[in-house]
Amino acid sequence: MERETVIVLDFGGQYNQLIARRVRECGVYCEIYSYKTDFEKIKALQPKGIIFTGGPNSCYEPGAPTYTPEIFEIGIPILGICYGSQLMMHLLGGTIGKAPVREYGKIEITVDQNSKLFTDVSEKTICWMSHNDYVEKMAPGFKASAHSDNCPYAAMENTEKNLYATQFHPEVLHTKEGQKMLSNFVFNVCGCAGDWRMDSFVEQSIKAIREKVGDGKVLCALSGGVDSSVAAVLLSKAVGEQLTCVFVDHGLLRKNEGDEVEAVFGPDGPYKLNFIRVNAQERFYSKLAGVTEPERKRKIIGEEFIRVFEEEAKKIGAVDFLVQGTIYPDVVESGVGGESTVIKSHHNVGGLPDYVDFKEIIEPLRDLFKDEVRRAGLELGIPDYLVYRQPFPGPGLGIRIIGDVTAEKVAMVQDADAIWREEIANAGLDKTISQYFAALTNMRSVGVMGDERTYDYAIALRAVTTTDFMTAESAQVPWEVIEKTTSRIVNEVKHINRVFYDCTGKPPATIEFE
Ligand code: XMP
Repeated sequence: MERETVIVLDFGGQYNQLIARRVRECGVYCEIYSYKTDFEKIKALQPKGIIFTGGPNSCYEPGAPTYTPEIFEIGIPILGICYGSQLMMHLLGGTIGKAPVREYGKIEITVDQNSKLFTDVSEKTICWMSHNDYVEKMAPGFKASAHSDNCPYAAMENTEKNLYATQFHPEVLHTKEGQKMLSNFVFNVCGCAGDWRMDSFVEQSIKAIREKVGDGKVLCALSGGVDSSVAAVLLSKAVGEQLTCVFVDHGLLRKNEGDEVEAVFGPDGPYKLNFIRVNAQERFYSKLAGVTEPERKRKIIGEEFIRVFEEEAKKIGAVDFLVQGTIYPDVVESGVGGESTVIKSHHNVGGLPDYVDFKEIIEPLRDLFKDEVRRAGLELGIPDYLVYRQPFPGPGLGIRIIGDVTAEKVAMVQDADAIWREEIANAGLDKTISQYFAALTNMRSVGVMGDERTYDYAIALRAVTTTDFMTAESAQVPWEVIEKTTSRIVNEVKHINRVFYDCTGKPPATIEFE
């Protein structure tokens, strides 16, 4: 493999992606593979180093994840973390046992500063521990390089064989000098050069896409979201007008969003590509008329999207390549990369391949984490507001209008949402809140406007902070911001006479309302 790579061998640890990200932060490309991956395959990848992750098991349990001990014999440096360290010891002849005192949380360890792993790390340093088992007896050839009060072998090493092991988790931020330790492993032990950078990624991708595509035709479904935008620009830089982007406006986008996407990717924008905007609002509204059940709405929107896209694709005729904005967490979460079994059912509207006449899929962002996609976007000169766009669900406002969807309701939620976003931005909160939007509750209630009785809708404002969107907290938006937004919404948006703020976290609520 020409690209310098470190491999994370995943034993089911919850931090597998975090380890890969930390390694990439060192400028070293890193991929995650399940422990079920064939040894020959791992060997063939010729990694500069391998990291065994933690995992929930005990290594003597029947069926516990394991690996062939041959991996220790091929001269590639290995770092075992938590379960990974215990497994390393176990496979090489050490003994694992139940720790007399279970360590959980921030624990101070004392390190041996002669260890390559601990170069420039303080002698006493705080580390994140989370284990029931521990190493009772090290495997032959190993020496202890750190200990804590309750763990005599908090870190171990066999320098001759370049094998390193830590009972704690260097990848989590609670381990104060963890990044230094990982960087020590990657540079001092594995001898990496650390030249994985976004500019070189962009440059190499453009070159590789050109070679692959030749004079072929490429089709891309553009949603205006970060991933599909970055993928489209990358493709357009590589193959220019051989690329056609189809943008389906389903009438469930945020206010002015369709025009914004067109301004960037359309004929007056900076990119030379074929851009087709399909204004399919009416089709979607008529399919959705009277439908109230959330999953049914999702399904209708998803299916109709495919129909519209298919019709456009037919007009273009056969294409050679179809672009998809898949990113690395999608790959890992769908079980292809690591060991995680979480499968998101609802990302990307673009599950299209069956319907389009094409030969091959191009997934130019398949290796990147979200923040890397954003960096690639900036590198490509995509405007900030697109690169830092908050996540927006494929079914759009369709799932932010509780109950049936009509053009009038879409307009109400668009207007209220635009005000909320403007006020959040005015308050300088747009970079710290992960996702924020307005939703139309299906509730109508009595109000008074001037001297008139009203019977109108209630808008719910939502703002959450989260790192992974699996759990989230309701954001503590200052009252003045909510107050001002409320007053603007009831004054500026017709048929809204009440505004609520959603204080619920996830769980028990979800981020979206449907
Ligand atoms: P929930 O509502 O499940 O949302 O807490 C978590 C994240 O996923 C997004 N989301 C969707 N994205 N299609 C999508 O492409 C969907 O059907 C969908 N439902 C939720 C949501 O915006 C949030 O970021």
